[in-house]
Amino acid sequence: MQKRENWGSKLGFIMAAAGSAVGLGNIWKFPFTAGNNGGGAFVLIYLVFVAIIGFSVMLTEFAVGRRRQQSAVGAFKSVDKRWTFTGVLGVLSGFLIMGFYPVVGGWAIAYIFKVFGGLLNNPAVIGDSFNAFITNPGEPLIWMVLFLLLNVVIVVKGISSGIEKAGKVLMPLLFVILIVIAIKGLMLPGAMAGMEFLFKPDFSKVNGSVVLAALGQAFFSLSLGMGCMITYGSYLSKKENLIENTAIVTAMDTSVALLAGIAMFPAMFAYGIAPTEGPGLVFVVVPTIFAEMGAMGQVFAILFFVALTVAALTSSVSLLEVVVSFLIDEKKFSRKKAVFSSSTMMVLFCIVASLSLGGLGPKLFGTGAFDVFDLLTDKIFLAIGGMLLCIFAGWRLKKEELYDEITNNGTVKFSLFGIWYPMVKYVIPGTIAIVAVNGIIQGFE
Ligand code: PFF
Repeated sequence: MQKRENWGSKLGFIMAAAGSAVGLGNIWKFPFTAGNNGGGAFVLIYLVFVAIIGFSVMLTEFAVGRRRQQSAVGAFKSVDKRWTFTGVLGVLSGFLIMGFYPVVGGWAIAYIFKVFGGLLNNPAVIGDSFNAFITNPGEPLIWMVLFLLLNVVIVVKGISSGIEKAGKVLMPLLFVILIVIAIKGLMLPGAMAGMEFLFKPDFSKVNGSVVLAALGQAFFSLSLGMGCMITYGSYLSKKENLIENTAIVTAMDTSVALLAGIAMFPAMFAYGIAPTEGPGLVFVVVPTIFAEMGAMGQVFAILFFVALTVAALTSSVSLLEVVVSFLIDEKKFSRKKAVFSSSTMMVLFCIVASLSLGGLGPKLFGTGAFDVFDLLTDKIFLAIGGMLLCIFAGWRLKKEELYDEITNNGTVKFSLFGIWYPMVKYVIPGTIAIVAVNGIIQGFE
């Protein structure tokens, strides 16, 4: 077997894996999904899912990827041809997410320039101007294409030189900016109502679709269920401690999501913006907060959208990488050809998704393409992908094989193996099946 490219350093891997996890899912999706699903109880269920299911599934993905030394499809196929479809489902999910993710990534880039252009001068119209922008059939497309082009440049350069460098420089910046925004938000009068909404569970708001939304959010946010972490794991050195890496990535991702929530909700309540504002939440709340702060506010707002763009980029390159490494490993494409052909298809999907926000283009059950891609991947494909991965690991791989891979042939201690293994084999697949069926039934009532 040809030796695979490897991560340049441990920090490089963590930064890239955390870079994949931390993205629009944390900063754009988490706050509005929490808002739409009633706040505290949703957040609590999400945290439980992250700690129990997310952690275990990520560890499993890393282990399978490093064991098989192949990206998603190859990893399944090399064990059992009948499991190839699981990897293919993952590539398809990656593709579909890339059918709307760059649209939002494009919004983030656009907002850097809009803040420059004086967006904050008239806070009263920030909400309306966002809606006018995303429903415009032309402008968002240009930004989306620009966002995708940035991905192409990074992914064409290959693993260690491209993704790793981007992650190392840009992730810490994001963290700092979010802390600044959170502090600013918390100092506003009436901010505590936002904290209460976010952290005080009201279980009367919980139903099957809220639970499924929390599960989907956990998968989406941690980049699980589509083989992304299998692919990243396949590039990871045999010496690395998988458990420690999983814990760090999970903790980083979750803290950014919570930080984004703390940056958003107190300010929203202080300004009287409804938590159910939807996908426009960050794009409306953040400029509104900073509009009050004069020139300083403008600088912060620009920094925020730069960081959001960066977070989106380090995630979307991982999505693109899933599709690209499938084409390289399975279809024997050169890296260049793989990147260009897949990103061309993605542009087409994104155009349909973006136009759907202005009411144009085909609809499925009355829902536009943007929401269909999101719903399909977030609520269905990723969870099913995670369930299948666990069934594969628990029932198709040997227990000893998993143990050896996770513990680096017994040299790393994993005292929870006795709990983790039955979780992966029985509990997680069962839980996902129940949550998914229940959520889908209730969601369509
Ligand atoms: N985790 C990313 C985010 O939160 O924005 C999105 C994502 C990346 C999902 C990679 C799935 C994936 F494989």
